[in-house]
Amino acid sequence: VDAALADGPLKGRRVLVTSGPTHEPIDPVRYIANRSSGAQGTAIARALAALGADVTFVTGPADVPPPMGVTTVKVQTAQEMREAVHAAGSVEAAVFAAAVADWHVANAGNSKIKKDGSGLPQLTFAENPDILATVAQMDVGRPKLVVGFAAETDDVIANATAKRERKQCDWIVANDVSPETGIMGGSENAVTLITATGAESWPRMSKDAVARMLAQRIAEALT
Ligand code: CTP
Ligand code: CA
Repeated sequence: VDAALADGPLKGRRVLVTSGPTHEPIDPVRYIANRSSGAQGTAIARALAALGADVTFVTGPADVPPPMGVTTVKVQTAQEMREAVHAAGSVEAAVFAAAVADWHVANAGNSKIKKDGSGLPQLTFAENPDILATVAQMDVGRPKLVVGFAAETDDVIANATAKRERKQCDWIVANDVSPETGIMGGSENAVTLITATGAESWPRMSKDAVARMLAQRIAEALT
């Protein structure tokens, strides 16, 4: 980010953004992942930096490169993402755009699983920590503004509204990730911003435009 932009409304304010998928190992050569490209989270980090924020960007293995002008921390697993988020220290706003894997393979091996005639692999799963909920429910040092995402395929608004209350974040950005929307992996997004006072649906626009609108709203909320 060039010096010309450093004087924005978020000048010097510390914020955190998580982004991308996580990869959960099955063995040293295989993993479980999801279709997140990291495009929306990357755009949000870029838009916050463009308003002058001091951005820590914690990203899983994304398809798009991290933005310039932010502090990038690259992680693979949900557990590593959780540690990186806590290591980032206190921030005024935190945006959780990452598509964190809900489960990891509890019996992941240190050596490659072979088709050696001993039968099909039997994977067992354990739940990952909910990074957003942990931060939203901090007693000490909670960011003033905690923003989650809700990726849904059915009953988007109802599910996302319930998610906001359950996790106790301030805002939820809800999006419909049904395959026919083309949002996951695409360059556009159609979101509904859910706050304590209601739900506001934004027109479908580029992920960059969604990011700029969200960054602007975050700047207003922090002033
Ligand atoms: N999230 C997180 N840590 C997790 C799971 C989710 O921080 N282990 C965050 C995501 O970054 C997102 C929000 O929680 O901001 C909601 O993620 P989502 O997958 O929509 O919700 P879940 O609570 O995991 O519920 P489900 O996948 O069952 O709909
Ligand atoms: Ca999930």
